Amino acid sequence: MEQLLPFRNVGASGLKMSTLGIGTWLNFSKSEDHRPIIQAAIERGLCHFDTADMYGALPGWSETLLGDTLSGISRSSYVLSTKVHARVGKWPNDAGLSRKHVMESCSKSLSRLKTDYVDIYYCHRYDPDTPLEETMDALATLKNQGKILYVGISMWPAEAIRQFARLAQEARVQIVANQVQYNVLQRPETEVLDICRETGIGLVAYSPLAQGLLSGKYRGQAQKHSRGMISYRNKWMKKITDDPTKMTALERYFDVCDSAGLDYISVAIGWLLAQDNVASALCGFSSKEQFEQTIRGIGDQLPTGLIEEVNALPDWATLNTQPDENEGKGAVYAVDSP
Ligand SMILES: NC(=O)c1ccc[n+]([C@@H]2O[C@H](COP(=O)([O-])OP(=O)(O)OC[C@H]3O[C@@H](n4cnc5c(N)ncnc54)[C@H](OP(=O)(O)O)[C@@H]3O)[C@@H](O)[C@H]2O)c1
Repeated sequence: MEQLLPFRNVGASGLKMSTLGIGTWLNFSKSEDHRPIIQAAIERGLCHFDTADMYGALPGWSETLLGDTLSGISRSSYVLSTKVHARVGKWPNDAGLSRKHVMESCSKSLSRLKTDYVDIYYCHRYDPDTPLEETMDALATLKNQGKILYVGISMWPAEAIRQFARLAQEARVQIVANQVQYNVLQRPETEVLDICRETGIGLVAYSPLAQGLLSGKYRGQAQKHSRGMISYRNKWMKKITDDPTKMTALERYFDVCDSAGLDYISVAIGWLLAQDNVASALCGFSSKEQFEQTIRGIGDQLPTGLIEEVNALPDWATLNTQPDENEGKGAVYAVDSP
């Protein structure tokens, strides 16, 4: 019998999730395409699915597809998360973390996901225009209404996390997860990691394969339907691929894996799951085969020497040759266009 995915508690909470999760950001376009992936994943014990109010060709699209795909599967068997903050309409209150938008967006998400509650409701980015007290009060209302069980944050500045965690304690709301970009060449700030550890917030690591770059598939002739080859999907990846210093660091990663005789995906996932406080690696899959390939290395411990070699690789952020104009503006990974 095939081994099931291990699971971990999320931060200091009692909530458990599989060490691999499936996200729907740029991957979810037709529910019938995704049913075989989700079915295969569930059979292997994967029980962590993530979306956001703004993922998909139009806001809400991915939530609708995920809701359709998960329908018929026992709701208690999986952890479902969605997010609020990004702009989903043209009116002033169609974005951010105001009480108005949080309450309205949550209701719409639940109806699209065809469920009464989400397990983790993420504040997708920090909103400097809304008092943290107002957002926390809205989240406490949603919790008391049974519409959300736990709260998450994503890519917040360290000091805002500290303040929000204090408010959560007063409001008896549990912030369980910080969804952070985390992979061998893109790591969260140490201060953020420290605050999360101190406040019992676990890490959900998104883009564990750096959107596919760490698989090595772009070294040769990548298939034309790959994310990197589609102009409306590769704009985040291009910030890396257009920068030769970052690509050199990527090649160094491949050299480290080659010297150890291990495949690039297993090292990327194994390294991530060996990091402190990481509950789950949140992946995207375009096919069942990708899921099956990625899951192969799970559970194998990487040699300590190899982990140290990967640790010694530079973080792409430290190699910034051109400043990112969105840096520090709380930009959210935007809507995918058809
Ligand atoms: N909170 C946030 O701000 C935020 C931001 C970004 C993402 N996320 C979440 O994290 C999830 C995952 O992000 P991501 O899609 O960037 O993750 P990722 O796992 O790093 O990249 C996914 C891509 O990697 C490629 N891939 C996966 N397995 C492969 C394999 N075995 N062999 C070769 N290529 C493989 C596929 O590319 P192709 O499609 O090209 O085949 C796939 O689309 C999102 O869906 C979303 O839920 C959150």
